[in-house]
Amino acid sequence: MTALSIIYVLLFYVAMITLVAGVTNKIMQYARVPAPLKVPVTPAPLTKTGVVYRFFTEVVFFNSLFRSTKWTWVFGWIFHLALLLAFFRHLRYVISPNSFLWPIVNLEPVQAFGKYAGFAMVFGLIGLFGRRIFVDRVRYISSPSDYLMLILLAAIAITGLSMSFVAHTDIVQLKAFTMGLLLFDWQNLPDDIILLTHLTLVLFLMMIFPISKLLHAPGLFFAPTRYQIDNPREKRHLSPWGAELEAKDGRNS
Ligand code: HEM
Repeated sequence: MTALSIIYVLLFYVAMITLVAGVTNKIMQYARVPAPLKVPVTPAPLTKTGVVYRFFTEVVFFNSLFRSTKWTWVFGWIFHLALLLAFFRHLRYVISPNSFLWPIVNLEPVQAFGKYAGFAMVFGLIGLFGRRIFVDRVRYISSPSDYLMLILLAAIAITGLSMSFVAHTDIVQLKAFTMGLLLFDWQNLPDDIILLTHLTLVLFLMMIFPISKLLHAPGLFFAPTRYQIDNPREKRHLSPWGAELEAKDGRNS
């Protein structure tokens, strides 16, 4: 194996461990944060099924963002949809042709939509970047990391597009490398500069994810304003530690 391939194998394992351990740690931290008050943003669901529906509309359509700012919604939604399509196309690097999933990943629409999604991704990111520059109140609250995350994602998409449309990489060898990572049967990585840039940026993204604003993805599910049921009159709200304290005091809840 080449020295470069060994370095990237090691970097990918380090990045994967950082990503999984970091995000797990954050999720555990979010789960422990007390939510002592009833604070669902109204109009809020009155039942559990309603909460599930609320999350569905939030995750799929970005409902509350739609209600607040249409331009942010348009660019944000386009970017995330493109990300999902690119994700499906990328599955071909980690799914074996013998897998039952292979015919699905290999479907023409999955590959074609994924390929052109790169353009939509860059379009969405430019819109989100413009919003941070041109909308005064957003510029005021924007920190360097807000800009840098957008630039990082755009750079990943642009290097990806360059491989699809300008200078192809050795996809067969790349797949051997990615499958090798999964199966602990390490293989060489193609050494063209665009692929190496794409992957280095991805490694960086994986490593900073657990300390970045991209944590809004898992974080959404821990927002009391979204997950709480609007039933303060029907049922007394008590956080788990509040209930414990009451039980200790011998008071009725
Ligand atoms: C280890 C992870 C990744 C690998 C091995 C990888 C590899 C590749 C390769 C080889 C291409 C060129 C496809 C072709 O020539 O037909 C590509 C394209 C692309 N990549 Fe990645 N990539 C990874 C992660 C990501 C991530 C995290 C993003 C987005 C944030 C991304 C966004 C794109 C985009 C938008 C394209 C252009 C559209 C396409 O052809 O699929 N990639 N990637």
